[in-house]
Amino acid sequence: MKVNTLILKDFRNYEGVEIQPGSGMNVFIGSNAQGKTNIIEALHLCGVGRSHRTSKDEEMIRWEQPFGRVTVRSSQQDGTHEVTIILARGQKKKKNIKIGERKAERIGELFGHICGVLFSPEDLLIVKGGPAERRRFLDMLLSQLSSVYFYHLQRYNKALSERNAVLREISIKPGLRSTLDMWDEMLADSGAAVAERRIEAIEHLSALAALEHRHLTGEKEELTLRYMTSLRDPSDLRQKFLDQLFSARDDDIRRQTTGYGVHRDDISIRINNRETRIFGSQGQQRSAVLSLKMAQLAYMAESKGENPILLLDDVMSELDMNRRRALGERINQIQTFVTCTDISDLGETERGMLYQVDKGTLNSFPQ
Ligand SMILES: Nc1ncnc2c1ncn2[C@@H]1O[C@H](COP(=O)(O)OP(=O)(O)OP(=O)(O)O)[C@@H](O)[C@H]1O
Ligand SMILES: [Mg+2]
Repeated sequence: MKVNTLILKDFRNYEGVEIQPGSGMNVFIGSNAQGKTNIIEALHLCGVGRSHRTSKDEEMIRWEQPFGRVTVRSSQQDGTHEVTIILARGQKKKKNIKIGERKAERIGELFGHICGVLFSPEDLLIVKGGPAERRRFLDMLLSQLSSVYFYHLQRYNKALSERNAVLREISIKPGLRSTLDMWDEMLADSGAAVAERRIEAIEHLSALAALEHRHLTGEKEELTLRYMTSLRDPSDLRQKFLDQLFSARDDDIRRQTTGYGVHRDDISIRINNRETRIFGSQGQQRSAVLSLKMAQLAYMAESKGENPILLLDDVMSELDMNRRRALGERINQIQTFVTCTDISDLGETERGMLYQVDKGTLNSFPQ
């Protein structure tokens, strides 16, 4: 896919800009705090409906302004797509999403129109951080590819918070115990759908990431991914879930929280059969994230039958020559948006379009 137009209105430090990016590499260059990451954030927002650096939408509206707006127009094999996100101040006002001229009722409708892979320095947390970071990585990836997955994930999270609310109240209202059956059914139902899809995806991603990692490290290191779940038997997931929720019910009531389910699962990321989070050097952890992101790109390209766009925020300067070259080879044919403070950060990577970013203004120079 290709982004043809990006329009920002009162978004972060941009009063109003419109660009028509090139189909290859688009480089955003400028000093610190000029608005480079804001461009990446705007594109990511239109892809998945949320910022990668804040959960507070209001922060993205230009200071002193009541509204902020981002529009992205793209073309894919199936035609052209347009996504507009309107952000409004005030707690009650949720963001407004438009797909073409039509107002979207649910955030799930957004997925698939602007498909992208974001790679930023915070992604190191996928390897170094807790299980929630790794689940988020996988959930975002699968939600972009399947609205059914997103539906089950949301349904699961809703059932989980309702069940936990019941668990907290049950000691003063014992009559609530019978309502747990309903939430258990819903958890097992959607939890099984989520787990099945995650297991299948990790198996495939593991093969892709191993390939990328071998290329990156010159065949030296073997990267493997494994989905870690408390599920003992992968067959008949739904019934297993239900049985385990039922048998853990008294423990859950005592602890006032649901101790079992896909909200506790994790992904093991190993290099040469040792956990990268614990034993990996800083460089190995960085390389593992890069391999994971490249695997994500390949996975999305396979699933969609075309390449997603690639958003690289501040990552070039952190890669050594070999890794930069490996990345450069991979992103041939992929529309890429990359930020840097110095053009030398790019090494020999193809330049394409160059945008000078200066206090919320953009000046373009074709290379
Ligand atoms: N809601 C907002 N309204 C106006 N300006 C904002 C808003 N949010 C952030 N800014 C400004 O945007 C600028 C930061 O933009 P951005 O994060 O894109 O910088 P950057 O060019 O990526 O810098 P760095 O190289 O340090 O990463 C800062 O000057 C900040 O004050
Ligand atoms: Mg930045």
